[in-house]
Amino acid sequence: MAVISEKCPEIKVTLVDLNEKRIAEWNSDDYQLPVYEPNLKPLIKKNRDKNLFFTTKIKEAINEADIIFISVNTPTKTRGLGAGYASDLKWVESSARSIAKYAQKHTIVVEKSTVPVRTAELIKKILTSSNLESDKTNPPKTFSVLSSPEFLAEGTAITDLENPDRVLIGGEDTQALEKLSLIYQRWIPKEKIFITSLWSSELAKLTANAFLAQRISSINAISSLCEKSGADVREVSKAIGADSRIGNKFLNSGPGFGGSCFQKDLLNIVYLCRHYGLSEAADYWEQVILLNEWQKRRISNLIIETFFGTVSSKKIAILGFAFKSNTNDTRYSPAINIVKDLLENGANIYIHDPQVSENQIALILDDQNRKIDKNIGEWKFTRDLKIACKGADALVLLTEWEEYLKLDWSELSDLMRKPSWLFDTRGIVDESLFIGLTLNLWKVGKGFL
Ligand code: UGA
Repeated sequence: MAVISEKCPEIKVTLVDLNEKRIAEWNSDDYQLPVYEPNLKPLIKKNRDKNLFFTTKIKEAINEADIIFISVNTPTKTRGLGAGYASDLKWVESSARSIAKYAQKHTIVVEKSTVPVRTAELIKKILTSSNLESDKTNPPKTFSVLSSPEFLAEGTAITDLENPDRVLIGGEDTQALEKLSLIYQRWIPKEKIFITSLWSSELAKLTANAFLAQRISSINAISSLCEKSGADVREVSKAIGADSRIGNKFLNSGPGFGGSCFQKDLLNIVYLCRHYGLSEAADYWEQVILLNEWQKRRISNLIIETFFGTVSSKKIAILGFAFKSNTNDTRYSPAINIVKDLLENGANIYIHDPQVSENQIALILDDQNRKIDKNIGEWKFTRDLKIACKGADALVLLTEWEEYLKLDWSELSDLMRKPSWLFDTRGIVDESLFIGLTLNLWKVGKGFL
């Protein structure tokens, strides 16, 4: 919405949320925004209170809107039918109910949240039933439902939005399709705007994420084979990526994919396949998730095995807790599983991350058992890498923050207890810098050097 407000100054964009604290953060005088996203702050600074507004006044905002984007979260259900696989649509549903209640004229409703196929049907049903309850003296409300899933990635959101590979708009109402398309055409060439059916649009979004996740699990499976066979996964990636049919993106082996989308969308596909009786297709996609779980587990096991099966009372420094660089998002971060495994095995952990806050990590790692069970290790947070490394037995690089590429490994090595190891789970450090150092190096997809 910040990008739409920037590209279309004559359009008034209003963001509404029930969460007062969040809205207050978006409106804060010192621009302490609730998310860290490169290049977002300047856009908010420039357009806020001009044509970009943040408010909790849901009724008023719906009243005056011509187009409404439903952009609420759709997490995996934790209970009830489809628990562990299907998306929980309660926020989509309550948004649709609010729109049904407060809309006054013809309103275009755009499904922006990632949703299972045929969710638009649910939205349509709720919206059309609103006239049954409405005041008969008023003209009936009318709605057009479109699907326009979002393909931006965190950390590169603004550039992805400014220059997308494509924009997808699904729907049947040609006037509504044209209206939304014209907004995007303000900065995106028309040939990059694809018009499809509602169901194709919804499924295309899930499929794009499933294919991206599948590539990561594929290269991670190969990384384990490289470590055993003496090959280097980066050389393999480069060689296969040069084949224009394969392409060179999303071939970086790492600690497993994280983020709020890949696992959730894969689970959704698995659920849909099972729902339609396609068990082989369901098993195929489920394997992408299982491989991802295995990649995280095999890395924590490998660290523990390096210390002859026990990391109890060892000091281990974690470099990066975010699920990828340039974001403070920790949802499904592989760091969570790996750190939890090490804590379970009694390690004392020092976590460093340039953007993630200590509070955020505490919410994830601190549970009751941890406080009671004395065999479980303790964790501390620091923004000072030297404190994290002092006396450490191992460093585990989990997020590919640029500042980690510039570290003086010789200096850090001198601070550590010997023998010491760096586990580079992103495979990004320059091996030549380790020649002559006492710091041993393990790289994903290559093994010990
Ligand atoms: C992903 C998709 O890339 C977006 O197109 C999509 O819009 C978004 O989900 C969504 O559905 O909202 P995002 O989760 O923000 O975006 O980040 P990605 O860059 O896709 O990274 C996901 C995970 O895969 C990260 O943990 C990252 O470190 C990992 N990854 C990525 C690898 O391990 N190797 C790679 O080569 C690329």
